[in-house]
Amino acid sequence: MNLEGKVALITGGAGGIGKGIATAMIKHGAKVVIVDINKEAGMSTQRQLSEFGSIHFMEKDISLRESASEIINEALAQFGQLDILVNNAHASRQAPFIETTPQDFELSFHTGFYPTVNLMQAAYEQLKKNKGFVINFASGAGISGQVNQSSYASAKEAIRGLTRTVANEWAKDGINVNLISPIAKTEGVQQWREKFPEQYEKVVSGIPLGRMGDPEKDIGEVAVFLSSESSSYITGQTIMVDGGTLKLT
Ligand SMILES: NC(=O)c1ccc[n+]([C@@H]2O[C@H](COP(=O)([O-])OP(=O)(O)OC[C@H]3O[C@@H](n4cnc5c(N)ncnc54)[C@H](O)[C@@H]3O)[C@@H](O)[C@H]2O)c1
Repeated sequence: MNLEGKVALITGGAGGIGKGIATAMIKHGAKVVIVDINKEAGMSTQRQLSEFGSIHFMEKDISLRESASEIINEALAQFGQLDILVNNAHASRQAPFIETTPQDFELSFHTGFYPTVNLMQAAYEQLKKNKGFVINFASGAGISGQVNQSSYASAKEAIRGLTRTVANEWAKDGINVNLISPIAKTEGVQQWREKFPEQYEKVVSGIPLGRMGDPEKDIGEVAVFLSSESSSYITGQTIMVDGGTLKLT
């Protein structure tokens, strides 16, 4: 799974799964652009990963509509091409549905769903030219209907519907578009654990493989596979990288 000569752009790449993917991709030879709202974490990740290869950190809020074209233009100015787009960042607030506000739905759709739409559209010409790969992010919360996660689960399932459609439309262009539905130990999961400890324990104790995933070794390596020629006959699929928790039929 060699990514040499490829350029990958990863949203939310400063921490968590995004950082794990950036690490795996750079180790497999890709030049990597990480986009994140957290400047301190982004700069730190850029410093850490620069020992493995070429990396560029971009401080951006992906929820702003104009960010998409700015992000693609800056990535092209930096590395001259784009082959892999990973729509990983997603922010949300968990609460019982009856307490969930319009702002909660806006937060989830404007950090998860719309940036996925906008960045895929902004990257299309490059992805078409290079027969590229897109990886979007789903969640078991959406697939199984986790309680207290209505705004997040809805945006995640919207991303799945979008991904299947775009995969079918872009197949003729040689662009593969897939989803990862992960479980991994990250800062985001830690915050959820603090708010809903019982729900967290239930999810973790229900993982057949008996552990939380590692952002680089478990999720990052699958993302490398989904961005390489080895996966060229897979598109429109949700790949469950969750220790066996959910089985799609
Ligand atoms: N970790 C899990 O177990 C798990 C489970 C299911 C789905 N997911 C999905 O996997 C992806 C990564 O999850 P994670 O746990 O690593 O998340 P995380 O919360 O730990 O990290 C998300 C990153 O995105 C950045 N970000 C947030 N809002 C942003 C914005 N507006 N603009 C730019 N950057 C922004 C954050 O600063 C952070 O670096 C998400 O799509 C998440 O929904 C994760």
